[in-house]
Amino acid sequence: MSTNRRNFLSALGATGAVGAISASKAMAQTTQGTPISAEPIFATPSVDSRALTGKVAIVTGARANLGRAFAQAFARQGADVVVHYHRAETIGEAEETAWLVREQGKRAALTQGDLGQAENVKRMFDVAFNEFGRADILVNNAGAIVKKAIADVTDEDLERMININTRGNFLCTREAARRLSDNGRIINIATSLLAGAAPNYAAYAGSKAIVEELTRMGARELGGRGITVNSVAPGPVDTPFFHSMETPQTTEFAANLSVARRLGMVSDIVPLVEFLALPSAQWITGQTIWINGGYLTR
Ligand SMILES: NC(=O)c1ccc[n+]([C@@H]2O[C@H](COP(=O)([O-])OP(=O)(O)OC[C@H]3O[C@@H](n4cnc5c(N)ncnc54)[C@H](OP(=O)(O)O)[C@@H]3O)[C@@H](O)[C@H]2O)c1
Repeated sequence: MSTNRRNFLSALGATGAVGAISASKAMAQTTQGTPISAEPIFATPSVDSRALTGKVAIVTGARANLGRAFAQAFARQGADVVVHYHRAETIGEAEETAWLVREQGKRAALTQGDLGQAENVKRMFDVAFNEFGRADILVNNAGAIVKKAIADVTDEDLERMININTRGNFLCTREAARRLSDNGRIINIATSLLAGAAPNYAAYAGSKAIVEELTRMGARELGGRGITVNSVAPGPVDTPFFHSMETPQTTEFAANLSVARRLGMVSDIVPLVEFLALPSAQWITGQTIWINGGYLTR
């Protein structure tokens, strides 16, 4: 990677891609005319304790965007990180994530594969144990999306959604239940669509719905070992994942749903995930936390 590219990535910090409706365009105000927090905070971590020193985090789907930012945040908190990526051709991006982890003075290891396949999930955990001797934190971040009316969803679309959003999340949680250290953390990345009924997202949101159940059941089953299980459910976030399904019109509509009238940014989501991984978040378990600028609550 070039020095310029590294400097750019470094400067990005926890931020991700910037899409059509960028936060800087949003100028939301209260009815009294007082500006509200339309601008995302591209800043230092919410907590800078290096409280994860000695811990090992596994982040799925971490080649870029949210997954990369979570990996970076955990490293900043002192954890070594297993960086999972899906398609072999994205190894260059995964290596950039690993570089950002190492830049924090922490160790990174790569693992690749379709997490709808149990052997790839097992290998991901094997990498954590072989390279770092343990696994403490799992972020189930990998996911796939389709936006189509129910009548138009193909068999292939459905299989792709179920493969990662349902089966993959289950397999990763099962492996974590077997192998995560006591006082570990499972953090699932869900979607705010689970709190609202938006048309054309049935296959995506439906296949993600298992995450809430895994969170509730997992918290009960694993709580005796001090392992917490939570879901973070973002609204629309300004990454290619979101934009790949949207037009400029639907993007503007989605942005205007938040109180700040902008899309969420990667940097809006990172502090919550980072916090849930910390020892001080021990009392939070079994929860799905909605993080969407106030457009959907439950
Ligand atoms: N962006 C949003 O608006 C938004 C909102 C709510 C929730 N989320 C959730 O946030 C998570 C991260 O999204 P993002 O926006 O950061 O987009 P992203 O970078 O595209 O993240 C999705 C990741 O999942 C990986 N993946 C897809 N299929 C997989 C499979 N079968 N096995 C293993 N990994 C697989 C992708 O790898 P490949 O690209 O190589 O396939 C990609 O790295 C997703 O779970 C998504 O549902 C996103």
